[in-house]
Amino acid sequence: MNTDYTDEGRKSGNSAAALRLFFMSGTGNTFRVTQWLAEAARRRGLAAGVADIETARRGKLAPLAAGALLGVLMPTHAFTAPWPVIRFALRAPRGRGAPAFVVATRAGTKFGRINFPGFEGTACYLIALLLALKGWRVRGVLGLDLPSNWIAAHPGLNAACVADIVAKARPKAERFLADVLDGHRRFSAGSLGYLALGLLVAQVSLGYLLLGRFLLARLFFANNRCTGCGLCARSCPFGVLRMRGRRRARPYWTDACESCMRCMGFCPEQAIEAGHAWAVLLYFAVTLPFAWWLLSAGAQAAFWPAPAAGSRLVCWVQYPLTLLALAVAYAGFWLLIRVRWINALFAATTFTRRWRRYHEPDTVLNDLCRPNGIAEVPAEPAATTARAS
Ligand SMILES: Cc1cc2nc3c(=O)[nH]c(=O)nc-3n(C[C@H](O)[C@H](O)[C@H](O)COP(=O)(O)O)c2cc1C
Repeated sequence: MNTDYTDEGRKSGNSAAALRLFFMSGTGNTFRVTQWLAEAARRRGLAAGVADIETARRGKLAPLAAGALLGVLMPTHAFTAPWPVIRFALRAPRGRGAPAFVVATRAGTKFGRINFPGFEGTACYLIALLLALKGWRVRGVLGLDLPSNWIAAHPGLNAACVADIVAKARPKAERFLADVLDGHRRFSAGSLGYLALGLLVAQVSLGYLLLGRFLLARLFFANNRCTGCGLCARSCPFGVLRMRGRRRARPYWTDACESCMRCMGFCPEQAIEAGHAWAVLLYFAVTLPFAWWLLSAGAQAAFWPAPAAGSRLVCWVQYPLTLLALAVAYAGFWLLIRVRWINALFAATTFTRRWRRYHEPDTVLNDLCRPNGIAEVPAEPAATTARAS
């Protein structure tokens, strides 16, 4: 069976598939889950198509063939779905009653012998809701623990924890798919509990989507170990990392960075840092001179986004100014850290300098950066499937 997600594919009549998996993945966790599901489908005699959502977007997603099962897979960011996945769901074609499911991978951890789950909050149900509004029949959602990849916020887990968490995730993912394919609905009490908690912290998620992610994007920088190879820019899933500088090119993170951690997780020199001392400076650089001084809105402006009642206007004027201030401050920072001793100073004041990096152990960059972003897993021939079962 053939799989093609683009308008070209549809025109050539090449658009039928039993399972279509669209994923976003920074460090490979979610990618790995799509591979497990595609393999599991294949063992059941179903063809599966796997595509990353950015490629699908660039290829102008064609209406999905009737009857094909759609799976949307993503990492959790700030207890909800990352913006590119929300955009993907908003732009998805009408489902016309076709079945779909949603998986959010989340930050599993392990201390001693005890595994701690991540927290997907509203991630699954937000995307499920958007798909349902577009006419998809959502059959199930799954929050799945994979090793936490947020290495700007904490050290990467050690290899033994990673192996344990990954090994536990696979059977859960496969069981979930088997249930959905068998026609069962998979909305567990647990996932509804996570949704309820997610709604309680929805303000944090909203704050992240509106401002936090732009702030986090401006914390990354390359330390003096950077060789200027440009691998990070080439492999950025959203193409928002640029190499700048004529004599000595260095990566520059624009505000559309999603903090997916791919650049940091895969850099062969471990040259990418998230500046923690810089984060503190940036906070004051952005809130004081611009928001506070420009708008003269009083001390409350220094603690954006908490405007007093009735000062919504201040907030709305402040918002674009804050984004502008972030961009200006980052441009200045980037110029400063071209001076080696200043760079060394900022690198020395990060935690990431000492932290272990992370990417999904079996995933290499080439897996994540296919030229056309689409992979096909054909169905196992019926005879082989019958023999296997
Ligand atoms: C910026 C950022 C925010 C995150 N927020 C959450 C979160 O709110 N809850 C959670 O369980 N995991 C969170 N994580 C962890 C990832 O969702 C998790 O490790 C995921 O499996 C990464 O998948 P990927 O490698 O496919 O990108 C976050 C990671 C990043 C980088």
